[in-house]
Amino acid sequence: MENKAGIGSFFHSTDADAITNFNTQDYITNYSLFYTGRHAIKYIFDKLIAEENIAKIWLPKYYCQHVTSWLQKCYSTIHFYTLDPFNPEHQLNVLDFATDKDIVLLNNFWGLFHYNIPTTANKPFCIEDHSHGWLSSGCLTSKADYCVASLRKTLPIPLGGILWQPNGKTQNNNTSIGNVDPVFYDNWDLVNKAMQLKQNYIYNNSVNDDTLKQKYLNLISDSENYLQHQYQVISVKEEHRKLIGLYLNKNYTYYKKHNLEYLIQNLNKNDNYLILKNNKNTTFGLHLVFKDLDTLQSVKKHLIQKGIYPSELWPGNEQTNSWSFLLNIHIDFRYTIKDMAYIAASLNQWGNY
Ligand SMILES: Cc1ncc(COP(=O)(O)O)c(C=O)c1O
Repeated sequence: MENKAGIGSFFHSTDADAITNFNTQDYITNYSLFYTGRHAIKYIFDKLIAEENIAKIWLPKYYCQHVTSWLQKCYSTIHFYTLDPFNPEHQLNVLDFATDKDIVLLNNFWGLFHYNIPTTANKPFCIEDHSHGWLSSGCLTSKADYCVASLRKTLPIPLGGILWQPNGKTQNNNTSIGNVDPVFYDNWDLVNKAMQLKQNYIYNNSVNDDTLKQKYLNLISDSENYLQHQYQVISVKEEHRKLIGLYLNKNYTYYKKHNLEYLIQNLNKNDNYLILKNNKNTTFGLHLVFKDLDTLQSVKKHLIQKGIYPSELWPGNEQTNSWSFLLNIHIDFRYTIKDMAYIAASLNQWGNY
């Protein structure tokens, strides 16, 4: 593919003015910013644990394996509930497994999920994760006690996470806990540098392309390794808060919606995978769901050969007797209809040899 934005699953530096506006702050009013989605989750878990007599923390069994293991390092009270992540018509009732002493993390799978939050007194604390559904209707009209999202999945910023309270009762103050490890802030600079290198790689056809590519991929890999073993919630520096703020009121769904509509019209029907779609919301990416891992790997390999770099969301989840594994193809603001035409043609070619 001519568009090289998909190499390494992070954004290159992008001018905020180039992205169309959205009045996010009309919907999400009292929020706190963090450096990662994990920090936002940990901050609110710790706050509830300190203030309430929390017994169990419930996570969905199907979830990001990195986040699950990170949270298991932080808390010994993690339990799991089962839910089909590919069925937005699910009827999950948190009262079937959780009590008013528990926290339940509810993931907005792919931007398509809405949850019925009980209104009874005996309900657990319900926290929704909108990392893959930023600006979806589930995110903007949530009735959860708290919501979190990893902003860095959608906004072209070095690092970013958010916590908000949909009922708007209290202002959350983003306070750091303990002494701040100064190395943490180097990490922001590291990712910022990687984003600039990636921008150069995409727009300057320099001779040293591959060196540049390896350099920015290494920086990102160092940063992700560091974050996976960093457990302290760090307060966001004012200059970083300002930069994240520049990208908050932007309409990321606008681009995805157009791109996805094109793909859905132009992709041939293929019984080997299911395309997740819904007429109310736009999915996080083009999501192909498979029954077995071998077929997913075959499509993934084919796409990589075509210069399209999909991601698995998430590796390590178990096979069920139905649709089980998801391949995500990026369709965000970095991509045009011309790119979509290339993706559709490439996918339609798979298996036709
Ligand atoms: C659904 C979901 N929630 C939360 C996170 C955590 O976000 P971050 O990587 O910013 O900590 C991730 C990503 O890793 C994720 O996939």
